[in-house]
Amino acid sequence: MTNTPVTSTAPRLFESTRLGNLSLPNRLVMAPMTRNRADDDGVPGPLMAEYYAQRATAGLIVAEAATPNAVGQTYPNIPAIYDEAHVAGWRRVTEAVAAAGGRMFLQVQHGGRIGHPDNNGGRTPLAPSPVPLPDTIYTPTGHQPAVTPRGMSPDDIRATIADFAAAARNAVAAGFAGVEVHSANGYLLHQFLAQGTNHRTDGYGGDAHGRVRFTVEVVRAVADAIGPERVGVRISPGLTVNGIQEGDTEEIYPALLSALSELPLAYLHVVYADPDQPLFQRIREDWAGTLIANPVLPRDRIPADGGRREAERLLAAGADLISLGRPFLANPDLVERLRTGAPLNPVRDQYLMYVGGETGYTDYPTLAAAR
Ligand SMILES: Cc1cc2nc3c(=O)[nH]c(=O)nc-3n(C[C@H](O)[C@H](O)[C@H](O)COP(=O)(O)O)c2cc1C
Repeated sequence: MTNTPVTSTAPRLFESTRLGNLSLPNRLVMAPMTRNRADDDGVPGPLMAEYYAQRATAGLIVAEAATPNAVGQTYPNIPAIYDEAHVAGWRRVTEAVAAAGGRMFLQVQHGGRIGHPDNNGGRTPLAPSPVPLPDTIYTPTGHQPAVTPRGMSPDDIRATIADFAAAARNAVAAGFAGVEVHSANGYLLHQFLAQGTNHRTDGYGGDAHGRVRFTVEVVRAVADAIGPERVGVRISPGLTVNGIQEGDTEEIYPALLSALSELPLAYLHVVYADPDQPLFQRIREDWAGTLIANPVLPRDRIPADGGRREAERLLAAGADLISLGRPFLANPDLVERLRTGAPLNPVRDQYLMYVGGETGYTDYPTLAAAR
């Protein structure tokens, strides 16, 4: 993990840059993080506006996963982006961030088999094939075994693609600069990519070219709806989270990138990017557009440098922007702390998700407040 040298010619973290039509004051991106603070109808409220506005010095904020329809809902109190109340709630958030000088994309996520009837109004979750998650799902009454999802019909596929496109239009109406299509971390699009969850025998299954088709069609529909320069895509090659077994990882991502490269998309966002990994190097070679890399940091803590060294190694290996999750979560003024080498607030894990409220959400102190 430590072989790639940090070179002096690599782009600098704190240097301004462009992303499509946006000017970014630095190359740091706040990674999308689900915090379960929307109301029971998926509407973001003033507390979410405050949380994101506190973090507006990020070069770009990618707001947490929002569901494009009811059946795609993963967990309780996930925000949504399919009706007018959602647009109005998110508008409060984007206006607060813009007033604080920031820029935002919204991640759009359909959970697929990561969902539960108790979380989505009684619907059976949809998935490429009826393969249940071999685990539990969090619901309002606690963890419950995952149910067997319904394999998606051709009509379900068409309707879901249309819902992604509509969600993207709603996101732009709500003031987002663009959307990030979530094809990572074991949710619906990743379930299509992976052999373990996609047993389809139609054109959306089979070899890697068939399994990437759903993600490609979602991204094309979203790009048609709002313009490709407003669309990013998140991938997590090789990740086994949420019971994912990709099988032929080395086939999937070249096939996916070759299809996505036909569009001038805003960016590709790679989760757990390791600059010494051949697949990451291949992705950088295959992807001519902007690449956001989310470094591999220790799972149990934020490193003392906030991930700065890993970020600089990734920039040296060709990443254009660096996304950080937990460091931004616990440090609203992360950019200033990384720039000056100031110490970081640790994450208070017990307040991450499902608890609601401002504790562990909007009460992380800035350096100025701590002084
Ligand atoms: C509380 C929490 C919620 C997360 N929610 C999402 C999400 O909604 N969408 C997503 O793509 N990744 C999500 N992630 C993953 C992060 O975006 C990021 O990839 C991960 O935390 C690793 O980055 P870090 O080491 O800088 O935290 C979440 C992570 C955390 C800690």
